[in-house]
Amino acid sequence: MSSLSSELAAKALSTSGLPVYDEHHTAKHVLLREYMKVWLAKLAQSYPQVAVIDGFASAGRYRDSRVGSPLIFLEAYLTHVARDRFRSPPHFVFIEARREFASHLRYEIEALGDLAGAEVDVVHAEYEDAFPTVFRWLSTNYNVPILPTFAFIDPRGYEKAPFKLLRDYRAELGTKAEAMVYVPADFMARFIGTAMTDSALDKAFGSRQAWEEIRDQAAPGAEASHQIAEAYAQVLRTEFDLVSRFVVDPASRNRYFLFFGTDHLEGLKAMKAAYWKVDPEDGRGYRQDIRAHHGQGELFAPRLEAPNAPEEDLLAQMRDEFGTRGFTIEDAELFALTKTAFRDTHVRPLALTPAYDSGNLVIIETTARRRGSFPAGTRMRFKS
Ligand SMILES: C[S@@+](CC[C@H](N)C(=O)[O-])C[C@H]1O[C@@H](n2cnc3c(N)ncnc32)[C@H](O)[C@@H]1O
Repeated sequence: MSSLSSELAAKALSTSGLPVYDEHHTAKHVLLREYMKVWLAKLAQSYPQVAVIDGFASAGRYRDSRVGSPLIFLEAYLTHVARDRFRSPPHFVFIEARREFASHLRYEIEALGDLAGAEVDVVHAEYEDAFPTVFRWLSTNYNVPILPTFAFIDPRGYEKAPFKLLRDYRAELGTKAEAMVYVPADFMARFIGTAMTDSALDKAFGSRQAWEEIRDQAAPGAEASHQIAEAYAQVLRTEFDLVSRFVVDPASRNRYFLFFGTDHLEGLKAMKAAYWKVDPEDGRGYRQDIRAHHGQGELFAPRLEAPNAPEEDLLAQMRDEFGTRGFTIEDAELFALTKTAFRDTHVRPLALTPAYDSGNLVIIETTARRRGSFPAGTRMRFKS
């Protein structure tokens, strides 16, 4: 515990006092679990210190006894296979505005017992006040030009998470400060024309200019929602080199996005691997089955319609991108990773092998011993 921690007694809530777990939470929780495994393995072994900030932490446990994001982060560390090789234990900071949730979270953390050296703070405060204090404290105390940090910004609405704070966070902690942000696009779209939400949208987007065109021009509903997601992606791109998103479509049909910003290809690769784990059909989103909502089992949707832009399959997108000019396997992987919903690992099985087998791909240069294996440095082009 550092001086960031609030003076707060650990106090368990009764089961009925804990928040209810909505089945669609599984999507974000699987993403966090999967991403943390890779993030910790890479960064905690390479950097003297890493940090995780959960800006809207909640109680750490739900009514049905499933764990919430702060405990998912801690478990990712405590159970990590490479933990012995970390250069130092991570620093975790959990911000929660509801006192009884913050106290319960403290209780859950104490119940874990040995934290294997991790510094764990529970800050009972409003995110807007606490987040800047936290990242400044981390920057000052760890005294490093770059502190690899993962910030999870998961409010229920959007008016409490100003974009400006993400800017300040990046400015303070450097290019390895990443963020995953919840954006309730359908909800934002529904009220976009009403004056009462103007200042909330200004805050979430960091300016009026970023969203007012949508209000003036988009048809309400799915179109506005899609454009809101696009607009938010653009705003995030002003801070992060690589921005991706995953849509969650709960039974209530109030779709929201989990946006992810990083400057690092390895980070994006790991996050996309997590997207595909949750959605093995097309890696773009999770749809809660309405029957499941009524207790009849859970399904992953095969495909999601808007607000995701309709995308053709990977091979078609690569043909559009490269035409008949030469490209390398590395160009193809970078394109798939950064410009499509696919992973770099999809390039060979989903695009190059089928194109090669049907005679539509010409190999210009390769060190391959086996036909159609596309090792590093392979150069090729589509026939037509
Ligand atoms: C959607 S829940 C977070 C769920 C959690 N991240 C998880 O995945 O298990 C949002 C939490 O933010 C808290 N909250 C609401 N407004 C807040 C604020 N301004 N600052 C910090 N926490 C706030 C709520 O009490 C609630 O526990």
